[in-house]
Amino acid sequence: MINRYSDMTLKDKLIKEKLPKHIAIIMDGNGRWAKQKGGTRIFGHKNGVKAVKDTVEAVAELQIPFLTLYAFSTENWRRPKTEVNALMSLLVSSLSDETETLIKNNIRLLAIGNIKSLPVKVQDELNEVIEITKNNNGLTLILALSYSARWEIIEAVKNISKDVKNGVMNIEEIDSEKFSSYLTTSDIPNPELLIRTSGEYRISNFLLWQIAYTELYFTNKLWPDIRREDIYNALIDYQKRERRFGKISEQLK
Ligand code: IPE
Ligand code: IPE
Ligand code: MG
Repeated sequence: MINRYSDMTLKDKLIKEKLPKHIAIIMDGNGRWAKQKGGTRIFGHKNGVKAVKDTVEAVAELQIPFLTLYAFSTENWRRPKTEVNALMSLLVSSLSDETETLIKNNIRLLAIGNIKSLPVKVQDELNEVIEITKNNNGLTLILALSYSARWEIIEAVKNISKDVKNGVMNIEEIDSEKFSSYLTTSDIPNPELLIRTSGEYRISNFLLWQIAYTELYFTNKLWPDIRREDIYNALIDYQKRERRFGKISEQLK
């Protein structure tokens, strides 16, 4: 009961008109959480799924249109094979377990990253859920899988070069907006808020271009311990910030 009450008051503190349109999250700390509990790293990843569900529910309920979750980076391929395999299996089972909930909550699933580098089983499951949810118009949930910002930027540069070479585009046309349209996030607004858990203060190759003016929020909590109240706390903090975009305070009035 007490929990329910405090959870409501936190949510009530949010200013509806000042909610971001896009939250991005670096979900970190599963391994350390498991170690604290005396379990394997895989045990940590499994317990991270509950945090994902709670976060997605909270964000959807607030009618925030976009949520991007960093689930597997290009660099994560360097982890022990057993961990990588377990993460891939967990991805397949979670996607399949959650399909009904996504449909019920009007959530559209998208994926960014080098999807072709994922095991075929993951690609198939992913494509199936993306296809089933494609007409949903509530929250767009974007999974960053085998994603890294430098990979994405290099891909964009290659495709821009091709279009210039083939006469589809002039060099003079290349500006910030044009460049953005070549990224995997072309139809997605830049995140206003980026959350990283587990007390690490780094970006780890996530959305480098898109977070140029994003507000950063760090928490020491490990990902499997994250619940909706933590998301509300991040949003309350975000709403206190003054986003100046190079201007001075007085110009914003
Ligand atoms: C985040 O938790 C999940 C992934 C990167 C896939 P970690 O697995 O990085 O957990 P820590 O950082 O080792 O505690
Ligand atoms: C970042 O976490 C990637 C994801 C959350 C998927 P890591 O745990 O891999 O980051 P580093 O390597 O410690 O920076
Ligand atoms: Mg980590």
